[in-house]
Parts: sequence; C-alpha cells; structure tokens
Amino acid sequence: MSTVQTSTVPDTPDLHQADSHQEKMLSEKIRSRTARVGVVGLGYVGLPLAVEYAQAGYNVTGIDLSATKTARINAGDSYIGDVPSSTLEPLVRSGKLQATTDFSVIRDLDTVNICVPTPLRKTKDPDMSYIVAACEEIAKYFHPGILVILESTTYPGTTAELVLPMLEKSGLKVGTDFFLCFSPERVDPGNPKFQTKNIPKVVGGTTPACTTLGHLFYSQALENVVPVSSTQVAEMVKLLENTFRMINIGLVNEMAIMCDGMGINVWEVIEAAATKPFGFMPFYPGPGLGGHCIPIDPFYLSWKTKQAGIEARFIELAGYINGQMPHFVVTKVQNALDIGKPLKGSKVHIYGVAYKRDIEDVRESPALDIIHLLQKRGASISFADPHVAEIRLEDETLLREDSGALSAADCVVIVTDHSAFDYQALVDRANLIVDTRNALKGFKSDKIVRL
Ligand SMILES: NC(=O)c1ccc[n+]([C@@H]2O[C@H](COP(=O)([O-])OP(=O)(O)OC[C@H]3O[C@@H](n4cnc5c(N)ncnc54)[C@H](O)[C@@H]3O)[C@@H](O)[C@H]2O)c1
Repeated sequence: MSTVQTSTVPDTPDLHQADSHQEKMLSEKIRSRTARVGVVGLGYVGLPLAVEYAQAGYNVTGIDLSATKTARINAGDSYIGDVPSSTLEPLVRSGKLQATTDFSVIRDLDTVNICVPTPLRKTKDPDMSYIVAACEEIAKYFHPGILVILESTTYPGTTAELVLPMLEKSGLKVGTDFFLCFSPERVDPGNPKFQTKNIPKVVGGTTPACTTLGHLFYSQALENVVPVSSTQVAEMVKLLENTFRMINIGLVNEMAIMCDGMGINVWEVIEAAATKPFGFMPFYPGPGLGGHCIPIDPFYLSWKTKQAGIEARFIELAGYINGQMPHFVVTKVQNALDIGKPLKGSKVHIYGVAYKRDIEDVRESPALDIIHLLQKRGASISFADPHVAEIRLEDETLLREDSGALSAADCVVIVTDHSAFDYQALVDRANLIVDTRNALKGFKSDKIVRL
C-alpha cells in the first residue's frame, strides 16, 4: 500500500513563500493559465502531457526533431494510441496546441518539459546524448523567469550534474532567475485506467522555490502531485519503482525454473500465494523482459552506483536471470518436441511477438531473442500477432502468417498473450504448444507444456 502522501490541493505546498521577482511573476502566470507551456520530445510521454495542458486551458507548443511528427500534430492527426485524433484535433484547431521543429520558440515560453529518449548503449551505459542535445537548444534561447522540468528517466544526479551546469552558463541563477525540477514520468501506454492525468506526479526541485513552482505547475492539470525535497530524490523514485518490478520478475522467473525442475506448477503456486491479504504481491514469470523501461532503467542505477564503488547486486542478478528466460523457453521447446531430437528442420510458430499484451510495440521483445535462438538451432520460424504485421530480424523481415502456419507447425510457442487470440482454436489445431504466459489456464490437453 502506498505510504506517500498525495495532495489534491491545486496550490503550492507550504514549503516556501515566493520571494524573487521572477518566482512571483511565474507563479501568477501559472495560476492564471497565461503561462506559455512548452514540451520538448513529442512521443509516448510528451504528446499526452502537451494535450493535458492544452485541455487545462494553457497555450502549448510542442517541439520535436521529427518534422513528420510535428506536421501530423498540426494536422490534428495523432500517432500515439492513448491520444485519439478526436481529442487532438480540436485543440490544434482552437490554437491551444501547436508543434514545431524550431527551438527558437523557447524565447517566448514560460515552462519547458523535456521528454526525450534515454536509451542504454550496447555496453549498458546511459546514452545522455538526447538530453544534452535538447538542453543545448534550450540554453540558446534561455531567459529569466523560465521553469525547466526534466521528465526523461535517468540516473540520480542527472539534473544537478548535467542539466543545471548547462543552463547556468547563461549567467542566470537557479531558484531566483530560473527554476529547474525533475519529475519522473510513469505513463503506461495502453493502460485504460491510469493515464497522464490521474497518475500521481512526483516532482523535486533544485531549490525550494523550484519545487514549489513545479508543484504549482503540475497541480493545474494533473490530479495528484507529490513534492519531494530534491531532484535526486525524484530521479531515484522512478528507479526504485522500475527496479522493484524488475527484481520481483527476476525472483518469480527463478521460481519458475525451480518449480519446473521439481515438477510443480508455478502458476498455481502464485495464485494460491496471492490469496494472502497482506505482505505479498503477485508477479508472474514469462519468456523474458521486454519494452524500453523495465529491462533498461535499473541499469542507469547500477551504472551510477558503480562510480560510487557500490555494486547493485540485486539488479545484476535479476538482469542475469531475466536474460536467461529466452534460453529456458527454447530448451522447453526442444524438450517438448522430443528429447534428443534436434530442433533443426522443425517448424516453430511464435504466437505473439509484441513485448506485452494488446500493444504493437516490439522494442526489446523477448520474442526476438527466442526467434534468434531457435533459428540458430536450425528451426524454421513463422509468427502470428494481431497487432504486428512484420518484424525485422538481423538478416530478414518476417511477415505474419495466416492460421495455416499454426496447424503446419511442429510446435507453437505462446510468447505474448494478446486478448484477440482465439485460444480454443489454437488448442484444437496446434500439434504441440509451449505456453510461456499461462494463457491456456483452464485448458486441459496433453499438447500443452507450461512454463
Ligand atoms: N514510453 C513509456 O512508457 C515511458 C514511461 C515512463 C517513462 N518514459 C521515459 O520518458 C522518456 C521519453 O520516452 P518516450 O517513450 O516518450 O520516447 P519516444 O521515443 O516515444 O519519444 C521521444 C521523442 O523525442 C524526440 N526527440 C529526440 N531527441 C530530441 C531532441 N533533442 N529535441 C527534441 N525532440 C527530440 C523524438 O523525435 C521523439 O518524438 C524516456 O526517458 C523514457 O524512458 C517512457
């Protein structure tokens, strides 16, 4: 259960009384909704945020490097599933929301939220180049009275050590001339219950004045705002949340491997354990981690702590176990086919390639690793996915197959449990099924091998 205190009061907390001239002016603009709001990076995070502020009555300008994206926004045509064009178009038409590739508009903006990507390099080092590039542009058009809020997920210390020095080169002083915060983004694309507006927003400022303004800013458009004492705390909050998830998934994946070795059904174990009304939270095993948050974010933390001589052992271990899951699945397929029979020449049909249920995103999907491992062992691969028409592999592009491939396959592997799949038809027609998601819970058949 949450122990953080949330506030629904759309006003500043009693942390700090506005004292500088710039702070008083900006507070007034935010309260009166005359502040001109900017969002840099218009992807899964930035576009929904820009829309929330336009809906709250602010004049919003989105800035992105992609001219295709800005043109689509200006045409009222959304490319983000959680933002319907029917919501976007009236905001654009009424002049509340516009998009541009031209950073010079920052001269006229009062607030700027930075929502650019933060991938990992192959070496698992954070790639800060997008944040640096965005801040270089912001610095060119910097002016007194501006509030800058970094939202990209990153290592603790980024705002203070990387962003602040770039902005202070202007000669302006943080906390009196300009204001700087970090606020982690928690959006969960495709989640019908929790979206930008009703996910509590944590914000921490460089100084108390920064926190107060950050809190005031978010309180105008979002339902719950949680102020914290520093940018470092706010950065760490996000990493705790995602590391918590990654490690618990690692634990339950190891449980699955242990149960498999002992002939115990791990799914039944979790279901029964979850009846405990306190002190337990169910996590589920699977074919491996996917997406661009859970497999990536904890490594920002381990990279940073290494510099302080502290090893993030839970993260490394969970990363190792989760990384083994595609291998475990392939061994299950091999064993299910016939112990000793090579995979070479077998036809394997992958059921679902997106990294999670009911979305189209294949970034970091474990399906890609499983396909790669199966191909290396000589299996021929086909796939089905109602949300994904094709996938790019190292040397080829694979197009999704119709249901003929299902009955022709020696083995079907359920990697993503999309709701649109007809599981009864799958059980009727497949020769053999390896189910890595417990999608066939309730089905009884000798054809089914569970994780
Ligand atoms: N997508 C999620 O579910 C999610 C959830 C929580 C946090 N985050 C974090 O939020 C951040 C943004 O993620 P996203 O999923 O929205 O990314 P995205 O790839 O969907 O969007 C990022 C946008 O930034 C633009 N961009 C890149 N460099 C730029 C620059 N220098 N100036 C202006 N625009 C630039 C890109 O063209 C793109 O449109 C990342 O740090 C991510 O880890 C994402």
